[in-house]
Amino acid sequence: MKTRNILSILVTVLLVIGCSSDSSSDGDIIVGGPTNEGGDGSGSTSIYLQDAASFPMGNIVSASKLTSSAANTTFKEVLLNDYNSITAENDMKMATIFTSAGNYNFSAGDAIVAYAKANGLRVHGHALIWHSSVPGWLNSFSGTNEEFEALIETYVKATVTHFAQEKDSNGNSIVVSWDVVNEYFDGSSIRSSIFQQKIGDDFIDKAFQWAREADANVKLFYNDYNIAGEVNKRNQIISKVNSMITMSVPIDGIGMQMHLNHNWPTADLPLAIQQITDTGLLVHISELDVKANYSNDVTELTAARAQEQANQYQNASYFYSNIVPAAQQHGITIWGFRDQDSWLYNGGNDWPLLYNNDYSTKISYDSFLEGLKGMSVN
Ligand code: GLA
Repeated sequence: MKTRNILSILVTVLLVIGCSSDSSSDGDIIVGGPTNEGGDGSGSTSIYLQDAASFPMGNIVSASKLTSSAANTTFKEVLLNDYNSITAENDMKMATIFTSAGNYNFSAGDAIVAYAKANGLRVHGHALIWHSSVPGWLNSFSGTNEEFEALIETYVKATVTHFAQEKDSNGNSIVVSWDVVNEYFDGSSIRSSIFQQKIGDDFIDKAFQWAREADANVKLFYNDYNIAGEVNKRNQIISKVNSMITMSVPIDGIGMQMHLNHNWPTADLPLAIQQITDTGLLVHISELDVKANYSNDVTELTAARAQEQANQYQNASYFYSNIVPAAQQHGITIWGFRDQDSWLYNGGNDWPLLYNNDYSTKISYDSFLEGLKGMSVN
């Protein structure tokens, strides 16, 4: 381990020297590139993300990327080197699974769980109820509100029950947790959604109860964006979660999505992590990515911008590692691998992730790793 650390320090020093000569011509492109010997995810390495983290390190997958096709080889090498937890990007959402009333297509989710089981990974279930993943037929549902609620209750219970079945050799479920409700709030108001309209504001409480009835052990999360950055929204979430706890609604954790910008949020980031931790629940950074071009003010990832983005990644890993007590650390999940695969890629106008398009690591990877090792941004 010591040798690895020395190697890693040497690499960092070389990197700093390299960066400072680059920055003399601010505006030059520096799109990462391998910055340590294991940077392409395929060779020997000083240390991988999952080795540095004292909690589960996650990223997203799709069933189509886990097949034995040669095109998936590098992806799977990087996945298994750096991560020990996975979340389905879309394959376990309602729009994929709920094909018609009482009918479910679990096949893509099953492929993900089978891959996780074969490779010793944990699966975080995402997401049972989300206003943006409602199947078309359900959106035009014309029955009564009671019938709608019964359909959703059956859906939640069937899905949680199904994915509780696959166990590891110790008898623990591969799917350890679920985002039960995603994005209940819109700013500091309860979002108007088909669930809110047809079931009522308390659909969230009911959904957590249904999930718990289906599986007594799986960890149940509330997940949302801008929990760091939007103070009023965060206050509403904390107040709702605290009232759920008081009312014995079975909630175990909070997912902070963490879709950040290179320069936002700043002081609110550690404050938010602290306040969410203060609920006493598990804390998951569930969808971390960092936009480098939110204001569309650069045409390439400049050296300066790449460094700001890297710093923000380091802030996320450092503050999470240092603020959240081990017993509350559900882990950090990055939302994607290569820039070009990100939902934020925007036709090549943003570079939000840790890997270049050939899976070599960017400086954001190195900085995120430093944060995991307990080093703050200078
Ligand atoms: C939200 C969802 C994710 C993903 C992203 C990007 O954050 O929770 O599943 O779909 O949006 O689209």
